[in-house]
Amino acid sequence: MKLLTILANLGLAAAVACPHRKLKEAGLLNEAVLAKYEELKRDGGHIEQRSSNGLLSPSTLSGLSLPLGGGLVNGVLQPFTGRLSFLVPPTPQSFGLKAIPGTDINHRYIAPGANDRRGVCVALNTLANHGYISRNGITTWAEAANAIQTVFGFGYDMAAILSAVGLIAGGDLITGKYSIGGADSRVPDNLGPSLGLDKHGVCEVDNSITRVDTYFGNQANFHLDRWQALLNDVAAHGNLFSQAAFTVEKKRSYDDSRATNPVFDAGPKWFVIAHGERVFIYRTMLNGTSPDTAPDFGNVGPFFLNETFPHNWFRRPTPFPFADFLVDITSLYLGSPVELGVNEGLDNFVPLGTDPSVMTPSQIACFVLENILDEAPGSFSRVVVDNYDIVQGFLNGAVAPFFANYNCDLQNYTVPSASAGEETTGSSSDDGPAIVNGVYQR
Ligand code: HEM
Ligand SMILES: *[C@@H]1O[C@H](CO)[C@@H](O)[C@H](O)[C@H]1NC(C)=O
Ligand SMILES: *[C@@H]1O[C@H](CO)[C@@H](O)[C@H](O)[C@H]1NC(C)=O
Ligand SMILES: *[C@@H]1O[C@H](CO)[C@@H](O)[C@H](O)[C@H]1NC(C)=O
Repeated sequence: MKLLTILANLGLAAAVACPHRKLKEAGLLNEAVLAKYEELKRDGGHIEQRSSNGLLSPSTLSGLSLPLGGGLVNGVLQPFTGRLSFLVPPTPQSFGLKAIPGTDINHRYIAPGANDRRGVCVALNTLANHGYISRNGITTWAEAANAIQTVFGFGYDMAAILSAVGLIAGGDLITGKYSIGGADSRVPDNLGPSLGLDKHGVCEVDNSITRVDTYFGNQANFHLDRWQALLNDVAAHGNLFSQAAFTVEKKRSYDDSRATNPVFDAGPKWFVIAHGERVFIYRTMLNGTSPDTAPDFGNVGPFFLNETFPHNWFRRPTPFPFADFLVDITSLYLGSPVELGVNEGLDNFVPLGTDPSVMTPSQIACFVLENILDEAPGSFSRVVVDNYDIVQGFLNGAVAPFFANYNCDLQNYTVPSASAGEETTGSSSDDGPAIVNGVYQR
């Protein structure tokens, strides 16, 4: 039934972003379906094929091959080699209660200028405004990963994985550089166009907290009305930006998009990112002097409204590890479970048949990894397809090792076909301007 629905919709595939991925997400991408899809495919969209030798082999992560270096020794990423030998991995930073930015003159607020990039992520914008990453908004895998450990107490694994995703999504693997806003000439295009973190194109994520769905316009800018709606949910929950408040806000935002956005996409990536960004708020924007209390307006407001730190703010005293992240996103999801799926037109929601509420923590972990790996090929341009060993080397060396304990079955991983990445488009963000009280200073 579901198979038929989705196949029937493939006739409309040209209008729908990456239908192959939706098929795969629905667990339907076996040889027979894939063959049908190949037949049906008429445009130049990309499609992934079964790889005879798999992205990662052997079928589980033990004995992972590291053709370009990387990998973990005592929990720390090792140098890369070959084409990736200039890529600098993140390093573990120290943790503990600390005032941020404190009195450090190097980390005072300086409003961004005309040539500085800012974008979808309030935290990265804040880090740039305070010089914890490059003030021009062009960062690197290592720089951003090190900064979010130092500033927000993200665990080393969490930081390395998150920043690797940022690099994969919009950057240049050879130098490790990416823009935290839109495309920028300061990021090299060694393996094809580096479009920046704001890039919207290949299945981007709806239901941000204060940003609108791309269907409705610029997906990178702050929207005061969305913030006000969040504040109402916060007010109803003891004035705290707690899991309980976000349980309500997430459901409201989902219902709203599902009812009004004809191309609403709540697939696996949505599951990870939409829940993740909410978890980050109540786990890492809190005042570190009371780490067990959810943050209040005084803690969260300055990040969103001014992209600066609260006065007299302390980072959390203990690291926030990846394992906790997995538990937290699942827990937030379960607070108000909603169907994963996509709108193919209004009143035509196609469920993906994936139900996180029946998954074990290990299965959630593998689900997350699968999505990182699955996203990667589609995120790169045609040029990368010809250099796919580099992408594979990076994923094997930089991301997969952190999942070693979860025993993910990866034998069916995919590589991009010759037309991968063609449909990718640039971002539409308004980079640069400072924001004060939630209003851009143009
Ligand atoms: C290298 C590190 C990071 C990367 C690559 C990154 C990337 C992103 C991206 C791509 C989005 C947009 C997601 C969407 O479409 O909904 C986003 C939003 C967001 N991120 Fe980050 N992020 C990073 C670090 C952080 C940290 C450290 C925090 C919290 C302390 C954080 C909190 C948020 C929040 C709250 C949003 C939602 C903004 C809104 O909708 O108003 N991020 N981030
Ligand atoms: C944002 O900055 C303005 C101007 O400095 C200030 O009046 C306001 O209180 C700040 N907002 C928050 C939430 O800190
Ligand atoms: C954080 O907690 C300390 C100690 O209670 C307090 O002095 C400070 O004002 C708090 N900061 C914020 C932003 O809530
Ligand atoms: C991987 O592919 C094989 C062969 O098509 C199939 O039997 C197996 O069930 C697949 N495994 C997963 C986890 O999808």
